[in-house]
Amino acid sequence: MAAYEFTDHEYDVVVVGAGGAGLRATLGMAEQGLRTACITKVFPTRSHTVAAQGGIAASLSNMGPDHWQWHLFDTVKGSDWLGDTDAMEYLAREAPKAVYELEHYGVPFSRTEDGRIYQRPFGGHMTEFGDGPPVQRTCAAADRTGHAILHTLYGQSLKNNAEFYIEYFALDLIMTEDGVCQGVVAWKLDDGTLHRFNAKMVVLATGGYGRAYFSATSAHTCTGDGNGMVARAGLPLQDMEFVQFHPTGIFGSGCLITEGARGEGGYLVNSEGERFMERYAPSAKDLASRDVVSRCMTIEIREGRGVGPDKDHIHLYLNHLPPETLALRLPGISESAKIFAGVDVNKEPIPVLPTVHYNMGGIPTNYWGEALNPTADDPDRLQPGLMAVGEAGCASVHGANRLGSNSLIDLVVFGRAAAIRAGKIVNPDEPNRPLNKASVERAVERFDAARNANGAVPTAELRLEMQRTMQRDAAVFRTSKTLKEGCEAMDAVYSKFSDIKVTDRTLIWNTDLMETLELGNLLPNAMATVYGAEARQESRGAHAHEDFPKRDDENWRKHTIAHVDEATGKVTLSYRPVHVDPLTTEAEGGIDLKKIAPKARVY
Ligand code: FUM
Repeated sequence: MAAYEFTDHEYDVVVVGAGGAGLRATLGMAEQGLRTACITKVFPTRSHTVAAQGGIAASLSNMGPDHWQWHLFDTVKGSDWLGDTDAMEYLAREAPKAVYELEHYGVPFSRTEDGRIYQRPFGGHMTEFGDGPPVQRTCAAADRTGHAILHTLYGQSLKNNAEFYIEYFALDLIMTEDGVCQGVVAWKLDDGTLHRFNAKMVVLATGGYGRAYFSATSAHTCTGDGNGMVARAGLPLQDMEFVQFHPTGIFGSGCLITEGARGEGGYLVNSEGERFMERYAPSAKDLASRDVVSRCMTIEIREGRGVGPDKDHIHLYLNHLPPETLALRLPGISESAKIFAGVDVNKEPIPVLPTVHYNMGGIPTNYWGEALNPTADDPDRLQPGLMAVGEAGCASVHGANRLGSNSLIDLVVFGRAAAIRAGKIVNPDEPNRPLNKASVERAVERFDAARNANGAVPTAELRLEMQRTMQRDAAVFRTSKTLKEGCEAMDAVYSKFSDIKVTDRTLIWNTDLMETLELGNLLPNAMATVYGAEARQESRGAHAHEDFPKRDDENWRKHTIAHVDEATGKVTLSYRPVHVDPLTTEAEGGIDLKKIAPKARVY
């Protein structure tokens, strides 16, 4: 192996990732005076949160009555009773506070006539514990909410002296021999140098792994890097079989058309000109939860009522909306529809198709963002030195299906929670432990092996094989047959990674090597997804198993825990219980448990 030199850095906290969760965590840590570094492979304001459109959920009641308990109920129901109730209560209760903090930091929210934050309806967010009409709960900055949040949080983090390491690619966690996470090894992309970051706490905020699939709304950078590092460290991933398809990706490109479009009055139509969602979800209609709408669209297409020459997509109509509403509330998607579908939304429908959008699963954590390494005896055992927030983490507030606009609020509530917790448990006066050389060496050996890989399979070819397999076999609807075939096909893909071919051996801006390392991260994510799905013999949320069409609370109301062996890709599954108890009792002002007891999920 070539000899590599290192630049060393020492911090109280190192955050990996500069999307909404990473920046909110970074800001919160820095505000408390913790020496904080944020490492990011792209410039912070290019992180995937920048693409979040429709908004951020919080029961502010600016547009009509709302209550945190209604938000909690909707989140529990949206999760199909797989979310952890304590985490969901924390989210719903803290959401208004977190949004007002954003407002005070400077996020330019859209406004009502009387100057309050504008809120729009979003799928699955209802009034009166699901019995009333849709609620306007989603706070928006036109349809560029993520963009507004990201720029504000980056500016605030700089103001508070957080230090940024931009275009550094985190390679692996550094673990002590006794299993404590103590930092990361990173590769600086623009000059090829290697860096060792020593920290008392590492926070993974690396986002999802949408790019394990062929068609995704996620950026090409969404390669599950944190999840990959965790898997290589022998730590588990949770509930990976739950992959969300957003109903309205633009047909062909996969580019997102926000659910806010339906929130503002848009609707879906089949080839017979029918607003079919009225048939499937008489109450919420086009604003039913995402998994429900995606399935209904898929059924319409399967039954021959898709639109277009091949009847393979659906139309989203917005042209009945006033042009001023489109210009004021939906300027971004009006532009996207023009660029990516050649459609003028004032005149024509947008061709759309359910598209991979979000990973409910990730690194298991509690509601403070502390990573877990569960055992049978201690399902909530803490993993020292490690936190995970945002899409990389699984707290689990989204369970089997996330509600739209609950992602941005998850990012800021749990980014903030991680900072609050770190402020209590990280002691800036304590010296950092010396780094475990063997752990660093393992990371560098892996890096060097990828750099010099001289096999027969080009990275792009293997990535495409993985993406096509996942798209075909772990789709909106799954069967025992497709999932078994998916496991076999992914086994074959995984084994070919040892025969990968990298042609560029340099260290500076080596995108060939970087994409290979990203593929190395995507693979354990994909393996855990397809194996977790194959094992789960029920239908719940985004996991629609046609051979087991019912939810089975008796046997399957539990979290899947997946360990992926780095050498072989073998997935070992176990399970841990769902937290069914909320944080507070009814007597303490909490929710009446009867209100959130499992029942049939209809909209
Ligand atoms: O449809 C959207 O604007 C996406 C929002 C979300 O995923 O939360």
